[in-house]
Amino acid sequence: MAASPASRSRRRFLLAAGALALTPALARCVAARRAPAFLQHVAPRDPSRLRLACIGTANRAWENIQEVRHEQIVALCDVDSDYLLRAGQEFPDAARTPDWREVVANARALDLDGIVVSTPDHMHAPIATAALSAGIPVYCEKPLTHTVAEVRALRALAASAGVPTQMGTQIHAGENYRRVVEAVRAGAVGRVTAVDCWVAKSWGDGRLTPGARPPASLDWDLWQGEVPRRPYIEGIHPGNWRRYWAYGTGTLGDMGCHILDLPVWALGLTDAHVASAEVFTEGPPPDAVGTPAWLEASWAIPDPPAVGGPAVDGPDPLVLRWFDGGRMSPFVQEIGAKDRVDYHARFNVCFQGTRGALFANYGEMLLWPGALAQSWMPPAPSFAPSPGHHREWLQAIRDGRADAPLCNFAYASRLTELVLRGLEACRAGGRA
Ligand SMILES: NC(=O)c1ccc[n+]([C@@H]2O[C@H](COP(=O)([O-])OP(=O)(O)OC[C@H]3O[C@@H](n4cnc5c(N)ncnc54)[C@H](O)[C@@H]3O)[C@@H](O)[C@H]2O)c1
Repeated sequence: MAASPASRSRRRFLLAAGALALTPALARCVAARRAPAFLQHVAPRDPSRLRLACIGTANRAWENIQEVRHEQIVALCDVDSDYLLRAGQEFPDAARTPDWREVVANARALDLDGIVVSTPDHMHAPIATAALSAGIPVYCEKPLTHTVAEVRALRALAASAGVPTQMGTQIHAGENYRRVVEAVRAGAVGRVTAVDCWVAKSWGDGRLTPGARPPASLDWDLWQGEVPRRPYIEGIHPGNWRRYWAYGTGTLGDMGCHILDLPVWALGLTDAHVASAEVFTEGPPPDAVGTPAWLEASWAIPDPPAVGGPAVDGPDPLVLRWFDGGRMSPFVQEIGAKDRVDYHARFNVCFQGTRGALFANYGEMLLWPGALAQSWMPPAPSFAPSPGHHREWLQAIRDGRADAPLCNFAYASRLTELVLRGLEACRAGGRA
């Protein structure tokens, strides 16, 4: 079944009445309306399927396309003509363009029910903003935006647009995160005082390469989008844009939304908690071009929710900590050395509380010490299983229920802001 009449008529109203502010990105979309060449391909509506456009078609974008391909893919967009051609061969009925603005500007002609955004980070906000301003539901990869100002604006826009949104943090839909959240809230480790999160990856040290030329298949101008123009950087596309402040968000931006999701969800942190956090970072001296090769970040949250039981020594702040690029949590190293277990290699998160600790990764959890694990009775599951991360969003479009996807932009913007505030502190020399 396609989108509910209520959600489609709301979208039409927004499109027709210009009920939302005309952002600069949308103004450019409107300016792009005169180019209907790619519309020669518009497929007729199949009433049983949603009509989707996918911005970005290779790598993560291709994985997202696989998750929604049972719907009707009516438009494909990519700035790399090789990728666009390859995706187009799988979806010969889809309209094709290298310019996402053509997709949004022609949303009505395409009769779109949703847009999937899987581009590099610096393009998330411009595309999602234009789509939401046109009343189109958005699935957008993580992190939701590239700057703190963008994420705050997008949160407000999503609230007023009132259409279903979802960020690409698909681990949230898995069973293990649900079981961890239930255990932490039921007091498995007592009152939570600190949560350490880490990842062994390193997306840093981006360097300029004067004289490099873009691959023939790439429209470098469109790829850069809204940021100041720069000569091409050898090897930046695909993937290595993560190493550059102008386009990516380093390792914390790449992985933080997945991993910090667990403490934010379990501890019920709100926008106000995130905004009130004092952020400290340690890393190599900040570089104007490249993201850091390693980073430690901490967020001290002064008035956290009381999760897991009573505090022992009064209302201490909750501390979230992040370690990447080979840096390790001292607490995890210390107990690992004592137990002769490499907890660091096996997990990504360690909740520390007044009774013990809980280690977790995407698929499993472990209580520490062993005696606590033996005496613990897990609570009955309280979260319903997800139909799948992408399907949460698709079903919400059908039902016209904007808030139904669990990583809707109201929640996802919180994760994104946490991560981006850490990066702001890093660029400011260690504190924000
Ligand atoms: N959820 C996850 O587990 C997960 C995993 C990997 C990447 N990601 C996210 O997905 C996004 C893409 O990451 P990637 O590693 O696939 O990047 P990539 O550079 O490998 O691929 C990006 C794709 O988008 C295209 N593209 C770039 N700019 C575009 C534009 N302006 N308009 C249209 N198409 C454009 C590229 O040609 C390419 O097809 C990032 O935001 C990343 O954080 C999420």
